[in-house]
Amino acid sequence: SELPDDLFQAIATLKQDLNAIVLAHYYQDPDIQDIADYIGDSLGLSRKAAHTDAEVIVFAGVHFMAETAKILNPNKLVLLPDLDAGCSLADSCPPDAFAAFKAQHPDHLVISYINCTAEIKAMSDIICTSSNAVHIVEQIRADQPIIFAPDRNLGRYVMEQTGRDLLLWDGSCIVHETFSEKKIVQLKVQHPEAQIIAHPECEPPVLRHADHIGSTTALLNYAQTSESPAFIVATEPGIIHQMQKEAPHKQFIPAPPMNNCACNECPHMRLNTLEKLYLAMKNRTPEITLPEEIRVAALRPIQRMLEMT
Ligand code: 13P
Ligand code: SF4
Repeated sequence: SELPDDLFQAIATLKQDLNAIVLAHYYQDPDIQDIADYIGDSLGLSRKAAHTDAEVIVFAGVHFMAETAKILNPNKLVLLPDLDAGCSLADSCPPDAFAAFKAQHPDHLVISYINCTAEIKAMSDIICTSSNAVHIVEQIRADQPIIFAPDRNLGRYVMEQTGRDLLLWDGSCIVHETFSEKKIVQLKVQHPEAQIIAHPECEPPVLRHADHIGSTTALLNYAQTSESPAFIVATEPGIIHQMQKEAPHKQFIPAPPMNNCACNECPHMRLNTLEKLYLAMKNRTPEITLPEEIRVAALRPIQRMLEMT
């Protein structure tokens, strides 16, 4: 077979041979997190991609994340273990429909959540992530109208936090919209000592109960520093691997989905496996490519984000 007995060792060897860095998001399989050189939220991963001197970037995340790394590093080989690892939020904002929407509001500044395609980034003025969205919107003149795309839940959260009126694109994440308010409240009754921590991509009925709202990195930091002995975690449960590592004595309870048959793992993130990651490095494919014209246009709003954060 093509696979070595010790995948961990084989990947470590390939990292050296290729001068590669493995960047992983917190929603990846725990095995992938364990072999990563850097694990982070979308902002941390973009910053790391912007500053690495490795020749090859192996991106253990979804397509828009690897694409952002390629936009920042046109001359590097950027590998994504499974090219089908997409994102429901990115899919909820097709470029043609967005171009028409934007044309209807020519006076609006376009702030787009990083969970979108390069084509949408190319039509945006500023990119943001869940960790800097509030801070970025606060820096925009109060009389400047703003389109916020594609996540309506993050958009609504930013509106509440800033008191600004944003024109929202109606997108959402399939993972964060499945959490059940009722089951979270029931869990809280069973674990009154637990704090509810939630990602801003969650729907308002869930966010209403949250003791803390933030990006994956912000939730991880909060779980580590809070006095609470237990947490109900309303985001993709891959993050619990790092929470448990950093705070082994605390209890982390994944927030349950509405439908008992559903699982709250991101089906896109979980397409990547250690095996596919190894094969991607060994075969130097599948790689991210994009037209130079789109790359250059998409780079501008990403750079603006990095400058404003
Ligand atoms: P962050 O890690 O930036 O909070 O993003 C969460 C997410 O849904 C990524 O797809
Ligand atoms: Fe996209 Fe949601 Fe999966 Fe993140 S968790 S990659 S936003 S579908």
